[in-house]
Amino acid sequence: MINFADYRNLLLSDRTVRRFDSRVKIDKETLEHLVELTRYCASGRNAQPLRYYLANTPADCEKIYPLLKWAGYYYDWDGPDPDERPVAYLIQCLDTEFGSNCLCDDGLQLQSITLGATTLGLGCCIIKAFNAPALSKTLSIPERYVPCYVLALGKSAEEVKIEDMADDDTADFKYFRTPDGTHHVPKRPLSSLIISKD
Ligand SMILES: Cc1cc2nc3c(=O)[nH]c(=O)nc-3n(C[C@H](O)[C@H](O)[C@H](O)COP(=O)(O)O)c2cc1C
Repeated sequence: MINFADYRNLLLSDRTVRRFDSRVKIDKETLEHLVELTRYCASGRNAQPLRYYLANTPADCEKIYPLLKWAGYYYDWDGPDPDERPVAYLIQCLDTEFGSNCLCDDGLQLQSITLGATTLGLGCCIIKAFNAPALSKTLSIPERYVPCYVLALGKSAEEVKIEDMADDDTADFKYFRTPDGTHHVPKRPLSSLIISKD
């Protein structure tokens, strides 16, 4: 069993990355290991309605990449250069045979995967801004599986730093990049997360 400090450190290391070392490939077996982690997640009604499309071939990656929107706050950045693009994707889909809603199963499973990827030295970006109909079409995903999220994966080629936000509702939560290329991600302090006062 890992201890609390190790678990906290794992969470601290599990940062969104958007630039990858595309020379480092990810095999199908690794993607399967990551999806296997989701078996142990909590699930509303225990219906376990989420499924995954595993993509790691150049052909699939080339189909998926143009359908994604990267880093909404980086107004003048279109996304990673060709040699910094993800080498694999997991497309999380809702199996509509098991309902039209997965409650919070999607998020629970995504973070189980990103934490697992972190332990393997891999980086991820959870992507909600994507063209779902076009994705289903280009990958021939059967209609019953509705894409919820795309998880982009690869070996991180990005420096990421957590910045402590002020305990102030006007504090800026937008991530930013400094000239040295470091991506900074502001996080609210504990004091601003707790609304009960003594
Ligand atoms: C529900 C959700 C949707 C997201 N969608 C996108 C997206 O469409 N494109 C993107 O570049 N990043 C996306 N992200 C990544 C967030 O921008 C990122 O989690 C946030 O900046 C905090 O950084 P951190 O993950 O390192 O804590 C998404 C994250 C979540 C949880």
